[in-house]
Amino acid sequence: DIRKYAAPLPVPPVMPAASPPDGPDTHYVIEVRPVRRQVLPPGAPATAVWAYGPAGDPGAFGWPGRTIEAVAGRPVRVTWVNGLTGRDGRPLPHLFAVDPTVHWADPPRRGHRAGHTPAAYRGPVPIVTHLHGGRNAEESDGHPEAWYLPAARDIPAGYATEGPAYSGFRALFRDATGAGWPRGAAVAEYGNRQAPATLWYHDHVLGMTRLNVYAGLAGFYLIRGGPADLDPGVLPGPAPRAGDPPDAPVREIPIVVQDRSFNADGSLYYPANRAAAADGFAGPYLPHGQVHPIWVPEFFGDAMTANGRTWPVLAVEPRRYRLRLLNGCNARFLILKIASDPLARRPAAAVLPLWQIGADAGFLPAPVRLEGLLLAPAERADVIVDFTGIRPGTELYLINEGPDGPFQRTAGTPPADPRTTGQVLKFVFRPLAGPDASVPPGDLSLPSPGPLGAATSTRRVALLESTATGGPGKGLVVAALLGTAGGATPAGGTPLRWADPATERPATGTTEIWEIHNTTMDAHPIHLHEVHLRVVDRGRPGGPVRPAEPGERGAKDTVIAYPGEVTRISATFDRAGRFVWHCHILEHEDNEMMRPLHIGG
Ligand code: C2O
Ligand code: CU
Repeated sequence: DIRKYAAPLPVPPVMPAASPPDGPDTHYVIEVRPVRRQVLPPGAPATAVWAYGPAGDPGAFGWPGRTIEAVAGRPVRVTWVNGLTGRDGRPLPHLFAVDPTVHWADPPRRGHRAGHTPAAYRGPVPIVTHLHGGRNAEESDGHPEAWYLPAARDIPAGYATEGPAYSGFRALFRDATGAGWPRGAAVAEYGNRQAPATLWYHDHVLGMTRLNVYAGLAGFYLIRGGPADLDPGVLPGPAPRAGDPPDAPVREIPIVVQDRSFNADGSLYYPANRAAAADGFAGPYLPHGQVHPIWVPEFFGDAMTANGRTWPVLAVEPRRYRLRLLNGCNARFLILKIASDPLARRPAAAVLPLWQIGADAGFLPAPVRLEGLLLAPAERADVIVDFTGIRPGTELYLINEGPDGPFQRTAGTPPADPRTTGQVLKFVFRPLAGPDASVPPGDLSLPSPGPLGAATSTRRVALLESTATGGPGKGLVVAALLGTAGGATPAGGTPLRWADPATERPATGTTEIWEIHNTTMDAHPIHLHEVHLRVVDRGRPGGPVRPAEPGERGAKDTVIAYPGEVTRISATFDRAGRFVWHCHILEHEDNEMMRPLHIGG
């Protein structure tokens, strides 16, 4: 049993830049390192995690990583360094069991023999970082096959040190200084030519994303300023600033919510085989493409963390706060609510609304008052909570009413256990320290997200889960895609795998409607790289449709596709390059529910 509300919510500080402030761009050197952090309450053992941080400053590494503060229109350059080596300079193996039978980075390029039970991969660990929600060139996008191993001693012979897309992207990369990519690293340039929004960076290695993100590889990337921003004075603030003293008041707080499980020694638990997972899978272990011995279809932890701490406490004043909420879970959908009793019978009464002002990729057209906020994995909500007038000494809770399992929307899945995953965070109130000059959220007028482009074509794609032949349980998850031509129904489409040639090839500059047919039993959060999308409508095939939810009416990059429904989105594909689209349930993404997106060819 983990003691709740025993430590403060950590607020990730600002990532320090490596460049002087007056350079042509802001340059960061961000490394991935193994560290130990107090994730569990004080007195419990520390937890080994993998963390992003500014190279050369070990104390500044964290889960989540420090927040990159970017300004609209001003480029940011990041050298992402794979530092997953031990003190002896040798590569570290993974914290978790890596299944070598799913599509993955596969540095040793081993084959698998029929009837042979493959052991977990214990070799050096590749990384590649994606800026989720960023609109950048292909060589800066963190393509899942652009991974690289650490520049370590003693990489075993026969291991590829970089993925098939890495060297091509290195050759394409041009930055302001003309410097290339150092060994064991990749350089990305983020133009920030997009509206202010809550973005996040996270690992994206093919077939290992679920494990690398679970180990701690995620952080916030905030874009502010430019003509599409609000006057900062009308919103609650300030946000953390570089050089803040530890007790500086902060009223704009990014919060990543993630479920985790822990071993008794404080280490993170992730199932090491299908038998250990909830579906009780016990083999048979078959060669690639059939039943996977280690991979699990979804992971649901039994503890909640916020900013890398289990059930923390946030001390607040009776004033307005801006929370940038991110669902960073592998598979769990969250329904967040503010309640007065954390153990209240679900659904609990909301004591305060959440005012959503922004979605994934920018502001909404108008503030939306919500009793409960639904967030699928990877979705973000920019939210204002108005605590004005609340008496010091009061305690309120951020609770979760999403299920402890796959999400369906209408079916009777019970909400998360109120004693554990049904709670996230406690707010404790102290006296007001100064006036609140921010505007009440209901009175805010938000910058318009702009009109939808006129779509020139419709593309039908489908999501399928295929049960492996000869094995129990979901062995293989696939996305099946249908082009615009041909009369086949999506349910009858041919499943396509990651390695099949790209079928989504929008011409550069076109606006398309995508009809996402979800033929599976569960909801999937579908994410497109490079573009921002708008939710058009949803409904059962051939039936009436309902419009986008109020909290989805701005620019987005991830959309929930509900089971049995067609979800229609619209997007303009204006930058040529090799990108991807995929389900953001990380276990699905890691096992074929991801396809190439080749814009302009
Ligand atoms: Cu957040 Cu392709 O990922
Ligand atoms: Cu999925």
